[in-house]
Amino acid sequence: MKYNIKITKTQKSRLSEVDFDNIPFGRVFSDHMFVADYHNGEWTNPRIEPFGRFSIHPAAMALHYGQSIFEGMKASKSFEGKPLFFRPEMHARRFNNSARRMCMPDVPEALFLEALHALIALDSEWIPPQEGSALYIRPYMFANDEFIGVKPSENYRFIIFTGPVGPYYPKPVSLIAEQEYVRCAIQGGTGEAKVAGNYAASLLPARKANEKGYDQVMWLDANEFKYVQEVGTMNIFFVIDGTVVTPSLNGGILPGITRDSILAIFREKGYRVEERDISIDELMEAYDAGKLDEAFGSGTAAVVAHVSKIAIGGKVMELPPVEKRKLGEMAKMEINGLRSGKIEDTHGWIVPVKHIEAVNV
Ligand code: COI
Repeated sequence: MKYNIKITKTQKSRLSEVDFDNIPFGRVFSDHMFVADYHNGEWTNPRIEPFGRFSIHPAAMALHYGQSIFEGMKASKSFEGKPLFFRPEMHARRFNNSARRMCMPDVPEALFLEALHALIALDSEWIPPQEGSALYIRPYMFANDEFIGVKPSENYRFIIFTGPVGPYYPKPVSLIAEQEYVRCAIQGGTGEAKVAGNYAASLLPARKANEKGYDQVMWLDANEFKYVQEVGTMNIFFVIDGTVVTPSLNGGILPGITRDSILAIFREKGYRVEERDISIDELMEAYDAGKLDEAFGSGTAAVVAHVSKIAIGGKVMELPPVEKRKLGEMAKMEINGLRSGKIEDTHGWIVPVKHIEAVNV
């Protein structure tokens, strides 16, 4: 143990109030949270406290200029009841890549991981055992200087809190290709970083998509509105004539950890996999030729979410029923199987939660 994480335990656990068979996504929070403050160039006072509100100054810079980044990760229980993480180091690295893009300090990987282990070990009873459910973990960092000049903040707060979740999309999602708005995610922009503002920019188009009866937007490139990028909440895959195709990481797309895992799984199993530009014209031609076999999204929250239909302009492409989705179903089973320990992890992606001896106060 390198960091002296102090633990103040809650006086009264809320665990018995939770109905684990009916958990809405993102509304139930576990008993504790990890907090550290960046001050004078170093991370100070790492601590685990009862989950709860804290106050910030009205001029806190994150509220004004958006220096705010986050990660989404999950802990699950193996079928034997052991708490496990999925690729925690990769999340730590992506978090720091986001931090650098937003001119924020790194959180040392060792601190990020030690905090995770200590927090999840303490709240491991909050990991739902049900298949398809997990403990969602939300690490985030925000600028905390009390100042309204535009410059990088000098003070930051890093927090990790968790909450049990069921599936993000309990049923297949419908998408509408966005031909008016763009994500902030053009090349050279912030698309490959997990920054709060990217999600804020997706809200208006997502609301308009909802008003038209669709669940989410499918973003197109900002230059020509021609190439598919990702969905508001996840990366996107297509199966075209038996080949798995996903947009290549071009600096404007979030390098999804579930995306990366699915690509590795398909490649190992010998499927044809292509990371490349995919135009909406190609999708429509494949659909007309009966060759658009499947479409699905991938993400930590979504895991693998089948796409039911995609609207582009006036055209609606209805995709085959889920029973016919061989590859999307396989991707979902593989990821869930690894997370439950039912499929052997040959990649070193699954990391058991360690019991870290933190200091009780
Ligand atoms: C995740 O998949 O963890 C995300 O951060 C996306 C968000 C829609 C919940």
